[in-house]
Amino acid sequence: MADGTAKLALGDKSFDYKLMSGTVGPDVIDIRKLYADADVFTYDPGFTSTASCQSGLTYIDGDAGVLLHRGYPIGQLAEQSSFMEVAYLLLKGELPSADELKTFNNTITRHTMVHEQLSTFFRGFRRDAHPMAVMVGVVGALSAFYHDSTDINDPVQREIASHRLIAKMPTIAAMAYKYSVGQPFVYPKNDLSYTGNFLRMTYSVPAEEYEVDPVIEAAMDKIFILHADHEQNASTSTVRLAGSSGANPFACIAAGIACLWGPAHGGANEAALNMLREIGTPDRIPEYIARAKNKDDPFRLMGFGHRVYKNYDPRATVMQKTAKEVLTKLGVTDPIFDVAHELEHIALNDPYFIDKKLYPNVDFYSGIILSAIGFPTTMFTVLFALARTVGWVAQWNEMITDPAQKIGRPRQLYTGPTQRDYVPVSQR
Ligand code: ACO
Repeated sequence: MADGTAKLALGDKSFDYKLMSGTVGPDVIDIRKLYADADVFTYDPGFTSTASCQSGLTYIDGDAGVLLHRGYPIGQLAEQSSFMEVAYLLLKGELPSADELKTFNNTITRHTMVHEQLSTFFRGFRRDAHPMAVMVGVVGALSAFYHDSTDINDPVQREIASHRLIAKMPTIAAMAYKYSVGQPFVYPKNDLSYTGNFLRMTYSVPAEEYEVDPVIEAAMDKIFILHADHEQNASTSTVRLAGSSGANPFACIAAGIACLWGPAHGGANEAALNMLREIGTPDRIPEYIARAKNKDDPFRLMGFGHRVYKNYDPRATVMQKTAKEVLTKLGVTDPIFDVAHELEHIALNDPYFIDKKLYPNVDFYSGIILSAIGFPTTMFTVLFALARTVGWVAQWNEMITDPAQKIGRPRQLYTGPTQRDYVPVSQR
């Protein structure tokens, strides 16, 4: 590479490709003309070296353990900001003024109710359905309820759909929970915060008054901030890919929820807590560490490792502190917190984990907090989806307005049979 150009030598031919620089982070080689020039594709399963788009939302330096939203470090946002403020920041690019925040809060609050017929839609699901299955179905179905905000070429409709998705997600998530436990749905209440409202819709019953606990509300808000966006991860890339065909935003977010459900992605917090419970006591940790290191055993330490972070996940730092605060406030002495601490300590000093740069990720401690608050494990990924909707929506909007945007259509290295003639079934 020289002078901002990458040279590709193929046989006796050579091709030049321009380097593009962002504001920070590695340069990228613009290979858009590669196939036309050289009749070859690049091969990158898992997109480990591929930038799929330009984005101004979130920056991660995985080696340094840095996560910035629109330039602001995640630690500062989690400690000093609110989820609504972060949502505004991701959507609009700048932190809001007090008036802007008030208006935004008001707009979101006034979109929290869902079409009344949506509650009958819920009743088609089995009570024991996984709430993520319900979320995929119900969020996808929003496009059948809100026709007036599905024209992606109209900026006003895009904005309304964005507000609707962010506002209705807590209502739908709480309804999914209520449906699973057989309790009546609770309508939103406009004098509560976004997060307080969600807690009330989840935990209150019509038979008695419910007061939102400010410590739990603050912890939950922090958890939402920590999950709001994370660059071009699998579910966000799914949302972008679905949206690249011109699909409506409700369908795109439903696709993101489906992707998030997997245990290698959003499902990891559920898997991490289940693992900690299975370990049970610190004396069993060495057995699990040995299993994680054994190549013949498919077991992995859930909540450990990350495609991008090769350092401590900065979200895990805040999560660990919040876990302590919540357990103290609730007076919960959960032995799995000690197991988590000890497991982290042992793993961080083990050459296998040191060499492979495997550190706790955001999911390692989040399950402990959510469980202490009272969420069943099946709801963990739903909460992740609720928070990530802000990032998905912001990334979707960025994609729609990007002049370089095209339908996402990767190519392949074909390894199947070459052309052959069809043989009628009687001759096979
Ligand atoms: N426990 C034990 N070994 C691990 C772990 C783990 N949690 N994670 C990775 N490794 C090992 C792999 O076996 C591999 O070893 P090898 O090089 O000898 O073959 C090496 O570390 C690299 O792992 P890959 O799977 O190639 O890394 P990749 O970037 O593809 O995977 C992933 C990242 C999926 C997050 C992985 O670390 C994992 O499965 N972790 C557990 C699940 C989890 O916590 N997911 C949450 C991610 S964060 C989020 O979505 C919010």
